[in-house]
Amino acid sequence: VSRFKMSVRSGSVSMAAAPMLTKLQQDCATPLPVLRNVAASMSDDIRAGLAVDGGSDLKMILSYVDSLPTGDEKGLFYALDLGGTNFRVLRVELGGKDKRVIAIESDQVSIPQELMSATSEELFDFIASALANFAHKDGNFPGKKGEIGFTFSFPVKQTSIDSGILIKWTKGFAVSGTAGKDVVACLNEAMDRKGIDMRVSALVNDTVATLAGARYWDDDVMVAVILGTGTNACYVERMDCIPKLQGEFSPSGKTIVNLEWGAFSKGLPLTVFDRDMDAASINPGEQANSSFNIFEKTISGMYLGEIARRALLHMAEEGSLFGKSMPEKLSMPFVLGPYLFRNPTIPNCCRTPDLSTMQQDGTEDLHTVGSVLYNVAGVESNLSSRKTVLEVCDTVVKRAARLAGAGIVGILQKIEKDTKDAIFGKRTVVAMDGGLYERYPQYRRYLKEAVAELLGPETSQNIVIEHSKDGSGIGAALLAATNSKYGRNL
Ligand code: GLC
Repeated sequence: VSRFKMSVRSGSVSMAAAPMLTKLQQDCATPLPVLRNVAASMSDDIRAGLAVDGGSDLKMILSYVDSLPTGDEKGLFYALDLGGTNFRVLRVELGGKDKRVIAIESDQVSIPQELMSATSEELFDFIASALANFAHKDGNFPGKKGEIGFTFSFPVKQTSIDSGILIKWTKGFAVSGTAGKDVVACLNEAMDRKGIDMRVSALVNDTVATLAGARYWDDDVMVAVILGTGTNACYVERMDCIPKLQGEFSPSGKTIVNLEWGAFSKGLPLTVFDRDMDAASINPGEQANSSFNIFEKTISGMYLGEIARRALLHMAEEGSLFGKSMPEKLSMPFVLGPYLFRNPTIPNCCRTPDLSTMQQDGTEDLHTVGSVLYNVAGVESNLSSRKTVLEVCDTVVKRAARLAGAGIVGILQKIEKDTKDAIFGKRTVVAMDGGLYERYPQYRRYLKEAVAELLGPETSQNIVIEHSKDGSGIGAALLAATNSKYGRNL
């Protein structure tokens, strides 16, 4: 890593592109005052969204999860996970306090591109079929009723723990006929069509499932954040801090609230490339009050490659970054492998976490950067253009990760300020998951640095930012258990 750092720092970037790089770095800069402002605005938006529906960019969706797993859960539960690039089915066998998770089996299928813009029936039939195949293999079908924790990672207005209405699709999904409908009813109808006798006991967002999964092992978990194709966060809130609840109360006095923080928009350092990308996306900031999702578009995996591509294309066109020949492929939206995103026109580039791959290059001549550029974007590069490319990646990723860090601090500061049992003086865990966080070391480092800068050395010692690997799959099964309709079913 240090060799990589040195070679980038000591060598020069492409001369002609240098002024454009400097401009990009200035526009993306996230010095402490910018981060402080983002964190404070996040806290304010949280409060405003808790006060009244529509009170801020943040929907502050009540999850109806007001008791978290304790470890006592027992039985056989299924989890369905639909949210990004892949769809998963899991079967989890829970053995109570001593045995905990006895067995997990899972199947993962990537969602065919055409399903992302299919009809609602087609999408839910696909899910139900995958569930049927899995349960068949599992020997538990047809058999006793299975209970499902359904992780559905899109903005849903929950109406109870096991029902909720899709507000809108995000992350490149454009399935017709689901928005405005109860997604559990959609799934039930598909299961009926396929003759599957199972029922959903808990409908949860992936952040909520992650929080539940992490809390199963660690009582100090208070916040969960997903950084993958999309991004979002949730946390444990006291019911008396949620004015819009109007009197409803759970025995624990606490509940999980899903921010849908992708819609956050205040104080973000944006560039022309972000704005152009948003305008070209399938969900530009058309609707008033929040569907811009500009925070998501600035910090999450689906978009980082695309921002970098736009910046590089500009440098190629205006500053001859790759010499005289214009790299045609670089003109194609999403060619630089928005993390985990599939581009149907270029079959092999889609899943490549290109930016991350390039940033891990430790060779003197930046050989890996050269081959990614050649293979993915059809670009011939020399050492100085490769260095420029790396600087662009670093700039885009650094801004993203530092803003995500500021968002986390905004949540923590809100809890600290409004809650009597303060969290800064004791160990508090933020559970992280998502492909971007998991597979991008520089992203993780920049995020943690920003959190430490904002909180200061003493407080940040108590804040543990921890990867909760696959917490969301187990978390959904655990919440199905906590909200079981049949009681223990082992
Ligand atoms: C998008 C969805 C949100 C989800 C997040 C992470 O922002 O709207 O519900 O939690 O992606 O997957």
